[in-house]
Amino acid sequence: MNKENNTYILCEDIFKIYKIAELEVVALRGLDLEVNQGEVVAIVGASGSGKSTLLNIIAGYDIPSAGKVEVAGNDLSKLTVKEVESYRRSEIGFIWQQAVRNLFPYLTAQENVELPMLLSGISSKQRKEHSLYLLNLVGLDHRLSHTPQKLSGGEQQRVAIAVALANQPKLLLADEPTGELDRKTANTVLELLNKLNSELKTTLVIVTHDPEIMHQVPRVVTIRDGKASSEIVNLNMTEKSFAPSPEKETTYVNYTLLDRAGRMQIPREYVQQFKINQRVKLSVVNDHLVIMPDSETS
Ligand SMILES: Nc1ncnc2c1ncn2[C@@H]1O[C@H](COP(=O)(O)OP(=O)(O)O)[C@@H](O)[C@H]1O
Ligand SMILES: [Mg+2]
Repeated sequence: MNKENNTYILCEDIFKIYKIAELEVVALRGLDLEVNQGEVVAIVGASGSGKSTLLNIIAGYDIPSAGKVEVAGNDLSKLTVKEVESYRRSEIGFIWQQAVRNLFPYLTAQENVELPMLLSGISSKQRKEHSLYLLNLVGLDHRLSHTPQKLSGGEQQRVAIAVALANQPKLLLADEPTGELDRKTANTVLELLNKLNSELKTTLVIVTHDPEIMHQVPRVVTIRDGKASSEIVNLNMTEKSFAPSPEKETTYVNYTLLDRAGRMQIPREYVQQFKINQRVKLSVVNDHLVIMPDSETS
């Protein structure tokens, strides 16, 4: 994956353990992930598999219990509180699933987009210009003075995208940005993200449980039980990020991921189909590596 060596996000063996009273919840258990500069990656997985935890760690909202996270050469665990704040403000744009969480209800669309710039000390003139540019980019230049409650769900998420882009982040993180939208609106939002990725060269990590995402992004990583377990690469899209083209025949390659110690997860359906129980035999047959169920235990 990292052949061109322009790794932008590097997660190595990340663990995240939440403690609630006496109870420990392991949200991430040895997760590895690499994302290149300018790439679009979707992260999918069942509810509770650790997707939001991972995104929050990459955004610097949370720190892993163990493991290394590097974004744009910053080792996030080594940053001071002030440095993390500045990292978040200058490097990251974040879109939450709940539109209400992205926007201030009493501010207009334009004021919402201007707010992050205001906090970064951008002049009033520049704020006006840039917010206009961004709202135009997301197709909402006719909704400048609307407060969120006067906008539809899809429009709110488009304003949220403009807000996330306000400080020209190099990385856009979206946690189920289309989770509350219908199919058609969800597709427009995904197409918009596509356009932004190709126009602004923003690296994009989208968390979703929408299986349709497979047809709209070049790489989909599946998290199972807190670990990256497999990925699907859409060969027709690896060059040009998003480019849904129904006419073109698409070629998907399904990979099982190894962690740094060489461990991999055998998909549950194979475990059941081949009645695998606890252990398997590996053997080399010609140029193939064969996994055989252990007949004594199965
Ligand atoms: N702040 C928290 N405190 C305790 N447990 C948490 C917290 N955040 C997440 N978890 C737990 O960690 C696991 C992963 O959660 P999460 O990352 O939100 O999954 P996903 O986004 O894939 O649904 C879940 O079991 C969840 O209950
Ligand atoms: Mg989540």
